[in-house]
Amino acid sequence: MEFGKSPTLEAFRNKSVLITGTTGFVGKVILEKLLRSVPTIGSIYLLIRGNPQHPTAQKRFLNEVATSSIFDSLRAADPDGFEDLCRTKLHFISGELTAPNFGLSDANFAELARKIDVVINSAASVDFREPLDAALQTNTLCLDTIVKLVSVRQIPLVHVSTCYVNGYNTGLIEETVGAPARRSIPRAAAGHYEVEPVIADLQRKVAAEQARYINDADRTQALIQLGLNEAKRYGWNDTYTFTKWLGEQLLLKQLQGQSLTLVRPSIVESTWQAPVPGWIEGVKVADAIILAYAREKVTFFPGDRHAIIDIIPADLVANSIILSAAEALRAVPAHRIYQCSSSHCNPIPIKHVIQHVQDEGAQNHARYSNLFYRKPQRPFVMVPGLIFNSVVRLGFVASKVRNTVLAGMGVKVSGVRLGNLETAMKLAVVFSFYTRPRYRFSNDQLCALAERMGEHDRNLFPVDARCIDWEHYLRKVHLAGLNAFALRPRSAKARKPVVQPETAVA
Ligand SMILES: NC(=O)c1ccc[n+]([C@@H]2O[C@H](COP(=O)([O-])OP(=O)(O)OC[C@H]3O[C@@H](n4cnc5c(N)ncnc54)[C@H](OP(=O)(O)O)[C@@H]3O)[C@@H](O)[C@H]2O)c1
Repeated sequence: MEFGKSPTLEAFRNKSVLITGTTGFVGKVILEKLLRSVPTIGSIYLLIRGNPQHPTAQKRFLNEVATSSIFDSLRAADPDGFEDLCRTKLHFISGELTAPNFGLSDANFAELARKIDVVINSAASVDFREPLDAALQTNTLCLDTIVKLVSVRQIPLVHVSTCYVNGYNTGLIEETVGAPARRSIPRAAAGHYEVEPVIADLQRKVAAEQARYINDADRTQALIQLGLNEAKRYGWNDTYTFTKWLGEQLLLKQLQGQSLTLVRPSIVESTWQAPVPGWIEGVKVADAIILAYAREKVTFFPGDRHAIIDIIPADLVANSIILSAAEALRAVPAHRIYQCSSSHCNPIPIKHVIQHVQDEGAQNHARYSNLFYRKPQRPFVMVPGLIFNSVVRLGFVASKVRNTVLAGMGVKVSGVRLGNLETAMKLAVVFSFYTRPRYRFSNDQLCALAERMGEHDRNLFPVDARCIDWEHYLRKVHLAGLNAFALRPRSAKARKPVVQPETAVA
């Protein structure tokens, strides 16, 4: 490999990178790609918080990260080499993001600041319905400490955000600072919104709720509801995206004159190509609905089947973050925003996603035994929200009454129908905003970045979603990936050989 041809490999030469969030989905994909494809890198510092089972960052890395199947290709290519790479390149910082100085002593914090050249902040609370106090801490307030860290030597920060910071805004959404869709917040000449008074108001409301309840469960429920109410009042669907937007504003304000890149992925799904097609961890957003359909729990859902959904494979996201960091290491300090998205450059309507999943399920369900327990018997239907709400609620009440009456008569009743309706209602509450999109996210700036980095880096770090053949990706890569990596066999008895995802075709 000729490094001279790669501005990215040159930018990382002998540099030290701090990454947060590597016990999570996106963080692992970034780390794997850096280890596999950026041999010029000096050191990688991993900030990981301990947990009761593995109290230090190093122990958590060894037990929860290094053991992940994402490293299988690296390990298979050179088992000793992978261990050497971890030993020589990785450094571990046991740190809790929300604690002052991440919980480090002043001396250790200062030493960390001296050693690193760029920070990639991928850690976040991605729970859409997190209690407001916790979401504010992780997605907004703790960014003060990140700012403090990067400001010591004015090093670049690449902050992983989300396209959905754009909230209820509609139409074509450019890679710029998004406005609140429902309430006006004063905007500074520098471009950010002045959110400190909003945050102070939210904190007052949090304190009031905390004082109102003695019971922990009631208090948690009240803080979840407070987050949702406040998010909607300002123009966001959920607490997660609202607190991520607040975080963006704090960073834009506090890092004026310094290097800040906001990288906003849309809905991150399994890898397109690398390290293997289809690698994914966990079942989130679109996959929760696919899984409920595959298991025949949900066959109709609220949404707009003609609308364009925005899905982006995780390897394109990791590549975008790496290219952004390389640019930030080389270029003059500036504020940059990149969206890793597909809805503008390679749009796919929801009805096509449904069709591809249904066709693959109907024709090849037996190949995906962890996902489908049998051939789905009914099609998946998307209906307008009003119809869904009336039909499901009516169906739920009718089933409940029927079951109660039959049980009263001593007849054994099955709770399956009721359970399925409940699953559909719960999924709809959390995800229906994402299944009736009224927006498309532009990634023009990201593609322009890839253009600037040259052909060699465009091939080594692809970011452009136009490369995706959706039918092949959804049927042969993503469903196979969900089956192979995200789901466990139903039981040892039902275990069948797992079909590996196919190589993605462009
Ligand atoms: N996944 C998506 O579809 C998607 C879409 C758009 C944007 N994003 C953005 O991508 C980033 C990564 O998301 P993800 O899907 O990888 O999330 P994830 O799997 O839930 O991982 C979150 C990571 O953040 C860490 N973290 C959370 N709170 C922390 C704290 N207080 N101190 C230290 N570490 C903490 C977690 O560590 P623990 O293991 O200790 O909890 C974990 O490593 C986030 O910024 C998210 O907003 C994700």
